[in-house]
Amino acid sequence: MKSAELFRARFGGTPDGVWLAPGRANLMGEHTDYNDGYVLPFALGQSVTAAAARRAGRRLRLCSRQEPAASAEIALDGLAPGRVTGWAAYPAGVAWALEAAGHRLPGACIAFDSDVPSGAGLSSSAALECATALVLTELAELAVPRRELAAIARRAENEFVGVPTGIMDQSASLLCRSGHALLLDCLSLETSQVPFDPSAAGASLLLVNTRAKHDLADGEYGERRAECEEAARLLGIPSLRYLTNPADLDRLADPVLRRRARHVITDDQRVLDVVTLLSSPPADAYREIGRLLTQAHASLRDDFEISWPEADTTVEAALAAGAFGARMIGGGFGGSVLALVPATAGVPVRAAITEAFGRSGWRRPEFLDAAPSDSARRLVPAS
Ligand code: GLA
Repeated sequence: MKSAELFRARFGGTPDGVWLAPGRANLMGEHTDYNDGYVLPFALGQSVTAAAARRAGRRLRLCSRQEPAASAEIALDGLAPGRVTGWAAYPAGVAWALEAAGHRLPGACIAFDSDVPSGAGLSSSAALECATALVLTELAELAVPRRELAAIARRAENEFVGVPTGIMDQSASLLCRSGHALLLDCLSLETSQVPFDPSAAGASLLLVNTRAKHDLADGEYGERRAECEEAARLLGIPSLRYLTNPADLDRLADPVLRRRARHVITDDQRVLDVVTLLSSPPADAYREIGRLLTQAHASLRDDFEISWPEADTTVEAALAAGAFGARMIGGGFGGSVLALVPATAGVPVRAAITEAFGRSGWRRPEFLDAAPSDSARRLVPAS
């Protein structure tokens, strides 16, 4: 556990505990969360760990194995958006949002480590936020329900860091269960655990980090969000969730807004279709889910226009080598692809993707396991 070692090296002494918060992949429902729609993420085995201890005084001392040159010391009093920048804005933002929600925090030293690749669309920042949220609430002996913690972590990202994300990533990190995907209705915030165990059905999940840079803060994400809000406004509905009849899309005169809205409502439907397939699986459930994944990719590429060349190539190569289906995941413009493959096709699918990258002169992609895992928790002492 590298975070505990880092804690001892940087702060001295023994941490009071070590906590973990996972990254996520999303099976279905992209850019649907901030449209009050449905998402179906699952937590990954890759996670952020945080070794931490209470300290006298109202200061947070933060360090990260991934940011060795950028340790931070932050005063809890007077903390406000804009005061902290760089990676430390995420944990500092969580402290700010917790206090803004009325929770009084103690000082603390926190050492972070992560094996969630950053910039890969796997929610390394939400994992950092959620690990911090658990650390700070447990050190303060506060019992904050997980759903509330997710909202607090999201507020940190939206208002402190300044990225206008939805609630999916923080919910996944805090609420998912191993062997399940999490169906989240982003309007009611109701959740249900949907059994999701591809290996039991002779299928496997392959995550491909295309290594093309993904940066939510670069404005494109916010632009898409604004387009969706504009489409809803023109249709006279509070959000695109309320667009239930696809024929109403024709009321949008602007073809771009029409395409954006079409992606959102078709992806919402695909989430529900996947849940149905997983809930009472027919024999060919994974083949059918794969078909929906590929359909979603086309929608993200053509209607929402957030795919990128490495993702399109990955999807094409995976399909040609026998995958059931594949799609880009996350905010878009870089990051990862999720492929669903027959267990026997894992090797040829990886080889085909690697070869296609080589032909295009791109850096080799990184292949990661994507096992539906448990949500954030304390590791030491075991809870
Ligand atoms: C990012 C955001 C999420 C969600 C996805 C796209 O991961 O953090 O809230 O909008 O993009 O589905």
